[in-house]
Amino acid sequence: MINAEPTGETRRQGIGGDDDVVRVRQLVRAAAVATKLSLVDQTKLVTAASELARNTLIHGGGGYAEVIPVTNGRRNGILIVFVDDGPGIVDLDLAFTDGYTTAGGLGLGLSGARRLMDEFRVETTPGEGTTVSAVKWER
Ligand SMILES: Nc1ncnc2c1ncn2[C@@H]1O[C@H](COP(=O)(O)OP(=O)(O)OP(=O)(O)O)[C@@H](O)[C@H]1O
Ligand SMILES: [Mg+2]
Repeated sequence: MINAEPTGETRRQGIGGDDDVVRVRQLVRAAAVATKLSLVDQTKLVTAASELARNTLIHGGGGYAEVIPVTNGRRNGILIVFVDDGPGIVDLDLAFTDGYTTAGGLGLGLSGARRLMDEFRVETTPGEGTTVSAVKWER
């Protein structure tokens, strides 16, 4: 469980095509600015969100993203959640291995996104889908 309580409105964006990945980036950027994340942290967050949105689209067959301003009682941050009802990830350790891809990608998106975020959690059930939740905290 990620310790993060909402402090504001949840924004949701469906992910069904490339344009939606752009919309997710815009939503995440706007939330990061509103929460006053540093420019570096904004960029890390948006980059991670972009990779996760692409995974939702390409591997998950589409789904949606939620962007939520949160606090852990000490710091504010942005929680991003990506949900799909695709095939799921059978071997998570393998999926996090740099260079592992099942779709001819670079195999760097998931591991890279985890490195860019402060909290990172994957819930996945083969045949049912995947939910990735991640937080960037203000410094
Ligand atoms: N939402 C998802 N549903 C099912 N499988 C996924 C999902 N996200 C990631 N995976 C699996 O994990 C692998 C690694 O993901 P990762 O993002 O690191 O690489 P990639 O998407 O294949 O390539 P890249 O992101 O570098 O373009 C994917 O190839 C895929 O098999
Ligand atoms: Mg990827």
